[in-house]
Amino acid sequence: MPDIAVTLAQPGERRARPASDSDLPFGKIFTDHVFSMKYAAGKGWHDAAIRPYAALALDPASTILHYGQGVFEGMKAFCGADKDLYLYRPESHIRRLNVSAQRLCIPPLDPDFVLKAIQTLVMLDKDWMPETVGTALYIRPFIMGVDNYIGVKAASEYLFNVLLCPVGAYYREGFGPTKILVTEDYARAALGGTGACKVIGNYAASLLAAEMAHSKGYSQVLWLDSATKKMVEEVGMMNVFFHINDRLVTPRLNGSILPGITRDSILTLAREKGLAVDERDLSIEEVIRSIENGSLKECFGSGTAAVVSPVSTLGWRDRDYTIGSGRAFPLAEQFFKDITDLQYGRTTDTHGWVRRIGNKRDA
Ligand code: COI
Repeated sequence: MPDIAVTLAQPGERRARPASDSDLPFGKIFTDHVFSMKYAAGKGWHDAAIRPYAALALDPASTILHYGQGVFEGMKAFCGADKDLYLYRPESHIRRLNVSAQRLCIPPLDPDFVLKAIQTLVMLDKDWMPETVGTALYIRPFIMGVDNYIGVKAASEYLFNVLLCPVGAYYREGFGPTKILVTEDYARAALGGTGACKVIGNYAASLLAAEMAHSKGYSQVLWLDSATKKMVEEVGMMNVFFHINDRLVTPRLNGSILPGITRDSILTLAREKGLAVDERDLSIEEVIRSIENGSLKECFGSGTAAVVSPVSTLGWRDRDYTIGSGRAFPLAEQFFKDITDLQYGRTTDTHGWVRRIGNKRDA
C-alpha cells in the first residue's frame, strides 16, 4: 500500500470551528484537511496525500467540467459516549464507489487503501468530530476525470478526494415528518442509465423537480419510473419504504434505483425482527389506494445523510393524501433508533457493520 504524505494545516490555514455541536448545518462546514490522490494512465493511482483544505486548481478544459465524469459516496463517522470513534459500513460504501466508478469508466481504487486513507483523515481531524446526539462527521469521497480535452471520451487522468464535514440533521425538519410531491413530469433515472450508481449527474438532474416541489410547499419529490411513470422508485435522494398490511415494502432494485446501504440495513434488521419484507414493484396507484383504505400505515425514506425520514403526506395529482394520522411513525422511529444505536456504539454490532477506528482522546 502506498504511503500517505501528510502536510499539516498551519495555524493560519486552520478553519473556523463551529461554536457548538447544536444546530450544525448539513454540508457547509469542512474540516482542516483533505485527502487526495491522482491517477494517470500508465502510472495508476499515485501521490496519495493529506493536505490543508484549499481550493482545487482545475484546467478549464477538465472532463468533469464539461461531461460530468464524476462519482461520489457519502458515509459517516460517529463519536460514541466513551469518545470511541466509529465508521458505519465503510466497506459497503467503498465497494459502491468502485461500482459507480466502473459505470463511468473510472479506474477502480484499492478498497483497502481507501479505507486506510479515510481512517487516517478522520483520525487526523478527530477534534472536529461532533459529540452531540444526532451529529456525525460526514465523509465525502469523490472522483473526477481531469483530462484537459474537450472531446468526449473517458479521461486518462483522475483526481480522488475525500472531504469531511461535521453535520447535524439533513432535513430542516430533522426527524420530523416530510410532505412529498409525486412527480409525473420528471424522472430521476432510466433503465440502462446511471440511477443505480452515485453519479454526480443524477443529482443535477433531480434539482428542477425538487425546486418545483419546494415552491409548492413540499420537502422533496417521490420519483416514479421513467418509462411508465407508474412505479415508485425513490424519494428525494433516498430509498423509500412503505408499511402496508403488516408488510414492509420497498421497490426492488430494478437497475435504476440506488442500492442504498441504509436500505440494506433496514431490510436486514426488519427480517431479523420477523417483519415480512417485500422487495417488489409497487405502483403509485397501489400506494394511494392503500392510503385511502387505511392499509398503508407508514412511509419513510432511508439514506446515509438523513438515516430515516418519515413521510406524513403525499401530494399526487393536485390532492394531498395524509398517511395514517400523519403524526405517528413507530416503525421509522424504531429503525432510526436501531441504526443510530449501532452507529454510536450503543448496541452490540452482530453484523460487522461498525468499525472502531480509535478514540477522540488518542494522542
Ligand atoms: C444519502 O443520504 O446517502 C445521500 O446521498 C444524500 C447526499 C446526496 C447529501
